[in-house]
Formats: sequence, structure tokens, C-alpha cells
Amino acid sequence: MNLHEEKKHWRAILKQRRSLVTDSKRKEMSQQICKYLYEIDEFNQAKSIFCYVSYLSEVETHTLINEIIDQKLALAVPKIMGKSEMSAVPVDDLSDLEPDKMGILTPKINQSASPPFDIAITPGVGFTVTGERLGYGKGYYDRWFSQNKVKTKIGIAFEIQLLEQLPIEETDISMDILVTEERIIDLRKPA
Ligand SMILES: Nc1ncnc2c1ncn2[C@@H]1O[C@H](COP(=O)(O)OP(=O)(O)OP(=O)(O)O)[C@@H](O)[C@H]1O
Ligand SMILES: [Mg+2]
Repeated sequence: MNLHEEKKHWRAILKQRRSLVTDSKRKEMSQQICKYLYEIDEFNQAKSIFCYVSYLSEVETHTLINEIIDQKLALAVPKIMGKSEMSAVPVDDLSDLEPDKMGILTPKINQSASPPFDIAITPGVGFTVTGERLGYGKGYYDRWFSQNKVKTKIGIAFEIQLLEQLPIEETDISMDILVTEERIIDLRKPA
């Protein structure tokens, strides 16, 4: 198997694994993940947050997004703009979003928020315990991270999405911190 086939192979396994989590378990684990987020200093001190809007079996972020909005922080969420480009669009209220053609809640406007971002809450199909990320296969996040400065990249996932190793290429951007329902894994090197 070449690297791209290997990635495809692991995507299928991990997506299947995540799809087996029941709705109530997913909500409960997502809540615990949010609790852990609030134990992270950089998260509490953040003024600007980029956060994905959860869809189907992903770690649920709607409650988190509401809290970020209530705290009047600068929030931006992803919008796919072209075949390979993702933008971070400023959002003040959940009513700024509407379902896209896939059903993913997406900003109605096309404006881009300006970096830097203090925090990026990042989804993934899987992560390694060392912070490497396997995404959905379009490279949207890798490209976006290579173009937008983010102080702390936080991957959120269920423990079943973590592996010792994953196929990784040079353009894959790794996380600074991982949060699951069981633990916070800080991968930053001590200063
Ligand atoms: N910064 C980049 N510049 C050019 N090509 C890139 C860049 N980042 C990733 N790619 C390419 O994009 C394709 C998809 O990347 P990859 O398989 O890592 O997707 P992914 O991280 O799983 O997806 P996503 O970020 O959308 O969830 C690969 O062919 C990869 O080489
Ligand atoms: Mg990648």
C-alpha cells in the first residue's frame, strides 16, 4: 500500500469506529472534552478562537460554540471556499450559520477573519498520541494551518480515535494539545 492508500485505509477504519458511538455517549463524552478544554490555561486566556462546527459523529461543538459566543470572544468557523481552500469566517451568533449542501452548518457570509488565532479547535478522523492528525482527505486543515498563524492547535477526539501511529506526510500539520474524554495530552516541548 502506498501512503495515500494507507491513509484511506485508516480513515475507513476510524470513521467506522466513530460511527458506532451512540448519540447519548457522544454527547456525554463531548461534554467531558469541553470540561477538559476549560482546564487549559491557553484556552481560558484566549481572545480569538477558530472552532469547527460539528457534524454527525464528530465530537460535538455546538455547546462550546454557544459558550464562546456568550463570552464575547472573537469566534471564526470554517467555510470551504473552493476545491482546496478553507476560510475562517467570523461568527457572532449561531443564526449567522446555515446548512451547506452536505448539511454542515456554515457561515452565510464569505468574509475572512484575520489571523493570528489564539486557539484552533481541530477535528480529525484520527490522531496519534504524539499529535499527528489524519483528517478527511482534502488537506483543508493542513493548507489552512500553513497559511494562518495559530498559537495553540488543539485536536479534540474520542479516545477510540487515538492510535500509536498513523501514515503521515510532510504537509500534515500536528497538534499542540489533544483532548479526549479521558485526558489532556500536552505535546508542546518545554520552553
Ligand atoms: N500545504 C499544502 N500544500 C499543498 N498540498 C497539500 C498541503 N497540505 C496537504 N496537501 C495535500 O492535500 C492532499 C490531502 O491531504 P491529507 O491526506 O493530509 O488530508 P487530511 O489532512 O486528511 O484532510 P483535511 O485537512 O481536509 O481534514 C494530499 O495530497 C496532500 O499532499
Ligand atoms: Mg493531512
